[in-house]
Amino acid sequence: MKFSLSTILPLAMALSSASAQGTVAAYTDPKTSITFQAYTDPTGYTFGIALPTTPGADFVGLLVGKAKGWAGVSLGGSMVNKLLIAAWPSGTKIISSFRETPATRSPPEATGPGYTITPIDAGTYTNATHWSLTFLCKGCILTDGTTFASNASTDVLGWAFATAAPATPANHASTLPKHGSQGNYGISFAAARTAKYATYAALANGTTIPTMFRA
Ligand code: HEM
Repeated sequence: MKFSLSTILPLAMALSSASAQGTVAAYTDPKTSITFQAYTDPTGYTFGIALPTTPGADFVGLLVGKAKGWAGVSLGGSMVNKLLIAAWPSGTKIISSFRETPATRSPPEATGPGYTITPIDAGTYTNATHWSLTFLCKGCILTDGTTFASNASTDVLGWAFATAAPATPANHASTLPKHGSQGNYGISFAAARTAKYATYAALANGTTIPTMFRA
């Protein structure tokens, strides 16, 4: 079978737009004035991170999605056997949940060594164009290989974005439908380190998501 140029060109253009890459850059959120190193994808997905100058187990994060869909980050890059955080709206609230899975299927809630999410209310909302979760993630950078290392200056993170809503949005343990788009990106943690970290972390004033402990 032969293809003419007029057949191939539109196909090539469709493929390149389907694999459109997001960008990693400094992003200052207008609602909180927090500056993150952030991955933003053309789908409407954003994950941002701010770290202390000497990182430990904590970071300040930003997850943005839209409509009723969920958005997630893999703190270890791939989906399988890495610590995942997913978030989505439920009414005017934003629900978040730690997940971990040994296979590519709806990941169950993770029962890790005591990580917590505390929202920063000023940056946590839903509106007509998007929803946003700004949060202090305490105990989230682990040493068991399921996340990036606290002393890494760069690493690869993973993103996943669904336009479909979780099965039971009010329940943080809800089954999640498969994401419509996902991928990996390299990020500079060195660039995410900031002397303003303590000020950012002190903004966390929402209700802490209950800590889960390994049995
Ligand atoms: C029902 C739920 C889910 C299903 C069925 C599912 C399934 C899959 C599949 C089949 C792939 C491979 C895609 C490919 O080969 O093109 C994948 C990749 C990925 N998924 Fe999921 N996923 C689910 C939920 C999640 C969640 C909750 C997250 C993050 C919070 C996530 C993060 C990722 C990432 C970062 C990738 C790309 C990196 C990789 O291939 O490991 N997924 N997923």
